[in-house]
Amino acid sequence: MLIRREVPGDESAIHQVHADAFAPLNPGRQPVEPQLVDDLRAGDAYLGALSLVAVADGAIVGHVCCTRATLVPGGNRVLGLGPLGVRQSHQRRGVGAALMHAVLGAADALDEPLVVLLGHPDYYPRFGFRPAAEMGVEPENPEWAPYFQARTLTSYRPELRGRFRYAQPFDDL
Ligand SMILES: CC(C)(COP(=O)(O)OP(=O)(O)OC[C@H]1O[C@@H](n2cnc3c(N)ncnc32)[C@H](O)[C@@H]1OP(=O)(O)O)[C@@H](O)C(=O)NCCC(=O)NCCS
Repeated sequence: MLIRREVPGDESAIHQVHADAFAPLNPGRQPVEPQLVDDLRAGDAYLGALSLVAVADGAIVGHVCCTRATLVPGGNRVLGLGPLGVRQSHQRRGVGAALMHAVLGAADALDEPLVVLLGHPDYYPRFGFRPAAEMGVEPENPEWAPYFQARTLTSYRPELRGRFRYAQPFDDL
């Protein structure tokens, strides 16, 4: 399995990865994540260097992206991570972990200071995420707090505090 950047032509396979990965979490309805990735890519918050695919047996089996987000007030630039998805056929083989380590390393190399996500509190601490409240970063919806996590990178500064604003396509969910 290899991790590489998304390139033109990967769009449909990435869409299908998220449709498959998130299907079990959405019984009886279409998951929103495949369209979310398409909408993010069409907007100005998408960061091509931080959209990574996992390739196994010549096919894309996983994808993760980080998009531009901000903290208000102040407008400090941080990252929102997600969606992260791995095809059901390839889950629990380390693909998700490989994508997470790769995208965090890439974000650190780009001098990004902070990565924020909404996710399961049992899964993401293994990648260095902690409750975002510890860093003074608040979700827009207080009900998200138990799932709202942040990972500091090398360029992190403690003054990076405030309310987190995802890229605009997340508002349409
Ligand atoms: C979450 C996901 C990306 C993990 O990918 P993966 O390739 O299976 O992950 P890895 O093989 O690196 O790690 C598997 C470990 O993660 C754990 N794990 C997976 N999903 C988890 C979740 N939602 N909560 C807690 N732990 C989880 C598994 O228990 C497993 O640990 P174990 O084998 O020790 O029990 C994948 O399961 C997936 O696409 N799920 C559906 C979409 C989703 O929930 N995405 C994340 C939210 S945006």
